[in-house]
Amino acid sequence: MNLEGRNFLTLKDFTPEEITYMLDLAADLKDKKKKGILVDDYKGKNIALIFEKTSTRTRCAFEVAAKDLGMGSTYLDPSGSQIGKKESIADTARVLGRMYEGIEYRGFGQEIVEELAKYAGVPVWNGLTNEYHPTQMLADLLTIREQFGTLKGIKLVYMGDARYNMGNSLMIACAKMGMHFVACTSAKYFPNAELVKTCEGYAAETGATISLCEDVKEGTKDADVIYTDVWVSMGEPAEVWEERIKELTPYKVTADVMANAKKDAIFLHCLPAFHDLKTKIGKEMGEKYNLTDMEVTDEVFESAQSHVFDEAENRMHTIKAVIVATLKR
Ligand code: CP
Ligand code: NVA
Repeated sequence: MNLEGRNFLTLKDFTPEEITYMLDLAADLKDKKKKGILVDDYKGKNIALIFEKTSTRTRCAFEVAAKDLGMGSTYLDPSGSQIGKKESIADTARVLGRMYEGIEYRGFGQEIVEELAKYAGVPVWNGLTNEYHPTQMLADLLTIREQFGTLKGIKLVYMGDARYNMGNSLMIACAKMGMHFVACTSAKYFPNAELVKTCEGYAAETGATISLCEDVKEGTKDADVIYTDVWVSMGEPAEVWEERIKELTPYKVTADVMANAKKDAIFLHCLPAFHDLKTKIGKEMGEKYNLTDMEVTDEVFESAQSHVFDEAENRMHTIKAVIVATLKR
């Protein structure tokens, strides 16, 4: 398997075997890190981290991974670069491509990261766009594989806004890996028909299934993994909160939902999560709409079934694997 020089923009571009290769590589790097075995033979290489939206996990994962590998990294924050304001994506890509061996981009439309990749001449990694969040997918798949020993045949139910980066990406990941994906939400929030069709094409090859279901009891029945995400994503206007709360509250992950899933089902969330009122926005929304939580109850979030922090840790091991796999040597 050789992924050297490849971009990492969406899992649509990778075969199940290539995804498995990156997961195996991540598991190996994780094992080595736990044992204190250094993999730091990337001295002299540098990566650029462009963030047009904020981040905790993705940024830290890239920075720690780069440091562990012996590489340098430069973080460009949402206000700290000329991108899109004074300098086009194509020009930025050609400048950074002369100085860095790889470029991470987090921002808005997928077409931006695609344009970066077209002009950079070095691997470009998608650290989240409106449409996709592929590095998150590797962390999620690794976490699921660690828990169940396999991916094939696992039923993953996504509740919430399935039209955005997380719903789209999980549907692709499940279809690629022979899993059963259910978008359990109101029909308005189902992923777009074209992407569903593309994923059904992958599913036909891998034995995966794709279902869209409005009924919570039916959708979550016998699930192995219950997954949710924030109801309003970065870059969306604050005005949509009220509507989302109204329309997605029936799809909140509660103890009842978990009880309807398999006995050993796990709960996952890409984070950050509104499971209590201990954040600025959580408090504001809680007071305004008389809530104690949003997409997941604190009870589920803090339960033994919740593996959200294993998942968060795996962001680093999987991102390290993406860097190692794709960097030109
Ligand atoms: N899950 C995730 O991408 O987290 P950050 O927004 O903190 O990077
Ligand atoms: N859907 C969320 C994911 C955050 C990791 C967002 O785009 O804000």
